[in-house]
Amino acid sequence: MLEYLRVTAGETPYLLREPDEVDMSTEQEADFIRGMRDNPRALMLLALVDGDCAGCCSVMPIGTRSRVRHRCEVAIALYQKYCGLGLGRTLLQTAVDTAKTIGYEQAELSVVRGNDRALRLYAHLGFERCGTLPHTLKYRDGHYADEILMVKML
Ligand SMILES: CC(C)(COP(=O)(O)OP(=O)(O)OC[C@H]1O[C@@H](n2cnc3c(N)ncnc32)[C@H](O)[C@@H]1OP(=O)(O)O)[C@@H](O)C(=O)NCCC(=O)NCCS
Repeated sequence: MLEYLRVTAGETPYLLREPDEVDMSTEQEADFIRGMRDNPRALMLLALVDGDCAGCCSVMPIGTRSRVRHRCEVAIALYQKYCGLGLGRTLLQTAVDTAKTIGYEQAELSVVRGNDRALRLYAHLGFERCGTLPHTLKYRDGHYADEILMVKML
């Protein structure tokens, strides 16, 4: 998981961390994975191609309080060499279907402006734009990017 986070963070400007900011220890990594496995309201889906991890998609609760328990957050990233093959669609559709089965009523995500492939995928799966947060990302060269917020009613 740590290698996946580091490599994908370096392959695209559209994720929230720099590769050198993946600073979890292997013990913390194991705890995180156990936490996901044992949480009936969370999901971590891997796409495997001939035994190799091609990418991952997660469903996480937004929170545990009763007023937000109907909402989940979805995140997805594939290794660059597996992008553009339709795997994103399959992973995300499975994640959204599972989120509904778990009992969530809406799935939410954010996408960096300019990430047209992701925007297109999300729109195809029924996510709707509901706003833009300006300058949510500041890159090390000083430039900013906005995030587009999207939601899908399940
Ligand atoms: C975004 C991502 C998950 C999409 O998954 P994918 O498997 O690569 O996407 P798909 O092959 O299913 O294609 C999705 C759609 O985008 C279209 N597309 C492909 N390349 C594109 C491009 N460069 N620009 C615009 N649209 C593009 C595809 O044609 C498809 O649309 P269609 O259904 O009309 O044919 C994947 O590319 C990825 O992980 N990218 C890097 C990390 C990332 O950006 N994560 C999302 C953060 S919000």
